Amino acid sequence: MGRTTQTEWDAQTYHEVSDPQVEWARDVVARAELAGDERVLDAGCGAGRVTRLLIDALPDGHVLAVDASQQMLDQAAEQLGDVAERVTFHRSDLSRLAVDDPVDVVFSNAVFHWILDHEGLFSRLSDALRPGGLLVAQCGGAGNIARVIETTRRVSHRPPFDDHLADFEREWYFADLETTKRRLEQAGFVDVDTDLEPRDAVLPLGGHAERFLMAIVLRLHMERLPEDLRYPFAEAVARELADDDGLVTLDYVRLNLKARKP
Ligand SMILES: C[S@@+](CC[C@H](N)C(=O)[O-])C[C@H]1O[C@@H](n2cnc3c(N)ncnc32)[C@H](O)[C@@H]1O
Repeated sequence: MGRTTQTEWDAQTYHEVSDPQVEWARDVVARAELAGDERVLDAGCGAGRVTRLLIDALPDGHVLAVDASQQMLDQAAEQLGDVAERVTFHRSDLSRLAVDDPVDVVFSNAVFHWILDHEGLFSRLSDALRPGGLLVAQCGGAGNIARVIETTRRVSHRPPFDDHLADFEREWYFADLETTKRRLEQAGFVDVDTDLEPRDAVLPLGGHAERFLMAIVLRLHMERLPEDLRYPFAEAVARELADDDGLVTLDYVRLNLKARKP
């Protein structure tokens, strides 16, 4: 595992295990209905696999790929070396984002629930858009991975993990439809469309599910655990979630957002 902190991700592992995120992103890109020549902000570009989907949909366009994690940006730059002239990378916290040249479309996949202040976020994203521009995004929404969270909590209270995790509560913000619609309108967006979409991810035990959990869902638990307990913790959570065939179902619920800046 690479170094993981509040801001940093294990970008190499994320690149390898993020098939579910890439699958969700295909639908988000389709919803953007790109003509092919737009300038698109990829808000929280991660390791670049989803940015590649955008680049493929923009033969005459450009992507401004923004992320707070340097490891993610480095991984994305390496992955997208062959299309470097069509991507600009920029390190920034989206909550403090300022762009020189407003874009046609703000796109984001699997990012907003990592940010607790959605009012501030939507206001920054509105500022990054040109008048008439589109916001198309998906993130974790109300009810997202409820079973995974409950299972993680149970395992966290068992020895030997409890010494490190008993008082640790991971903070995400899985927003509901009404609040999100209201906040988008307060940020000045119109034609706001939001919906919730259950999207289970099913991963096999025996390495795959455990690595996925370590790199994504449990990445901040990993920081608090000594090295020798990290894999065992992810394994314990995965085993508890697995069915008799060794398949782990992660109960993802995605929040879709689409809105226009007048
Ligand atoms: C689950 S990954 C998603 C990456 C990519 N969009 C995808 O779908 O594969 C979440 C990403 O959001 C980024 N992120 C989280 N909070 C952020 C913030 N406040 N500002 C900028 N990026 C942030 C993380 O660094 C990480 O790269």
